[in-house]
Amino acid sequence: GGESHVENFSFSFEGPFGTFDQDQLQRGLQVYTQVCAGCHGLQYIPLRTLADHGGIGWTEDEVRAYIDENFIETYDDALQDWRTATPNDNFPANDGVGAPDLSLMAKARAGFHGPYGLGINQFIYGIGGPEYIASLLTGYTGEEVEQFGSVLYENTAFEGGYISMAPPLYDDAVEYADGTPATVEQMAEDVSAFLMWTAEPHLMARKQLGLVAFIILGLFAVLLYLTNKRLWAPVK
Ligand code: HEM
Repeated sequence: GGESHVENFSFSFEGPFGTFDQDQLQRGLQVYTQVCAGCHGLQYIPLRTLADHGGIGWTEDEVRAYIDENFIETYDDALQDWRTATPNDNFPANDGVGAPDLSLMAKARAGFHGPYGLGINQFIYGIGGPEYIASLLTGYTGEEVEQFGSVLYENTAFEGGYISMAPPLYDDAVEYADGTPATVEQMAEDVSAFLMWTAEPHLMARKQLGLVAFIILGLFAVLLYLTNKRLWAPVK
């Protein structure tokens, strides 16, 4: 493969105290729905999780409205037909043009590797899945080549340098409900944050639990130290 360049975007959910930015996740869902879902699926993500805490944070009515407004359908095995989705169904799959499912993409790709294959950068910057996606979406050079009858687009983040996905984003590809200017970079970061949430929806709960465990173990260490001193006091 060729060199691939991944930029170190800074996301709100990084670091021990990092949290998902709910507004950003909502914008990212909008980009996914209006742009990416044309070719990609999210087949492992239940629609009802849009109402979970620590994520998009909608009410169940808002989830239903989203399904209605976007005409989201599910193939029902019992009916042997398509029907309107319910919150208990998953986002649709989409393999029409051979685009990979995006449910776990933010965990399936690493943005940072070396140096020398040691992976030390991953300790410092994280695995870099969302950075990779954002870099891919902003990494088009505008050059294209034709190979065996299909067009490939030069992209500085893609392994090998040429990808068959045409640049999906252009300025104002969506009109954000919250008024944020929809630059390519903004949309790229927002949809990458959203895809980090689909791949790791319980990131915030996991970090909080980790922090609580850290504090309790810290207190426990102090108590053990004091107990130890007291136990040995008569002997010393
Ligand atoms: C591949 C993201 C929109 C078609 C990919 C990959 C990602 C991605 C992360 C995997 C790259 C890899 O293998 O490392 C997105 C996002 C989109 C979007 C976030 C919306 C902003 C689209 C659209 C189309 C499309 C609208 C179709 C017109 C494809 C195809 C591939 C692909 C065909 C396979 C490319 C290859 O392996 O050469 N996309 N995509 N994508 N995407 Fe998209």
